[in-house]
Amino acid sequence: MESSDSLPASAQWLPDRAFQGQRALVTGGGTGLGLQISRGLAALGAHVTIVSRSEEHHAPFLEEARARGWSAGARVLDVRQDPDVRATMDGFVEEHGGIDLLVNNAAGNFVCPAERLSHNAWRSVLGIVLDGTFSCSKYAGRHMIAAGGGAMLNVVATYAWTGMPGVVHSASAKAGVLAMTRTLAAEWAQHGVRVNAIAPGPFHSDGAKGNLWPDPEVEERMRAKVPLGRFGNADEVAAQCLHLLSGASEYVTGECLVIDGGLSLAPGRMWEPGERLRRRRGAQGEA
Ligand code: HXC
Repeated sequence: MESSDSLPASAQWLPDRAFQGQRALVTGGGTGLGLQISRGLAALGAHVTIVSRSEEHHAPFLEEARARGWSAGARVLDVRQDPDVRATMDGFVEEHGGIDLLVNNAAGNFVCPAERLSHNAWRSVLGIVLDGTFSCSKYAGRHMIAAGGGAMLNVVATYAWTGMPGVVHSASAKAGVLAMTRTLAAEWAQHGVRVNAIAPGPFHSDGAKGNLWPDPEVEERMRAKVPLGRFGNADEVAAQCLHLLSGASEYVTGECLVIDGGLSLAPGRMWEPGERLRRRRGAQGEA
């Protein structure tokens, strides 16, 4: 175990061995938020296997794990392929003796007006986000149920319930995942399996930047709407994921934690904070 001053930022809020001996699988675990969750879990003692479609996404995590002495693995998997998901979960359990933690982080998204979205584009995003999350949950869930418990974490978005122009595919899929989170939480609580979700607002990640705010002007417009005044970072979103997966949240299931700097509380702000006060002072001739 490494010293706490060299822990990834996401891991600095939990005790050193918070996940010691636990076995975790993180989908999309080689990049962005998935990578920060994987790093945090591994730094706190879990074995972490990342899965993603692209082998080249495995390298950064595996190299860091080697350097830091973390227990890590990687498999190529497209979560849309249900039989492959089953084989991956079964193979993981055969190799490690069980699965304690599942993070359904793999996603696909891009901005496209609904009337122009092709069926294939709709199916691609629904397939990754909704079908993929269910396949992973089902096959990992079977093992967790047999073993008497486990914890799952799903990544949704606040537009699952607010809606948002341009992402009808992703919003519809994430709404389904939110319903799945609550349903599986209720269904599997009797087996000791907890299922929670997070709903991040905009945070810095390569996938989101390229697909959702490729343009600095769009990014600035979005940033200006966030009450806390900035986008989040992947490691601070990951820190909340680790908390929900950890023993600190043993009595939390079916919950969706919003991590958005307050954005969903003020979606279409009618005035800037302090604006009315500034105007009144201006009218009274105050500085
Ligand atoms: C319109 C598009 C498109 C775009 C792809 N398609 N990109 N349509 N606008 N920008 C269409 C293609 O033309 C094709 O339809 C269909 O989608 C499938 O595209 P493929 O590239 O063949 O599929 P695939 O290689 O499987 O890629 C899946 C993907 C891709 C979802 C399209 O974007 C992807 O893999 N993304 C993963 C990374 C990612 O997006 N991460 C962002 C997550 S961030 P046709 O009809 O031409 O065959 C996130 C956070 C949101 O979700 C929170 C915000 C607040």
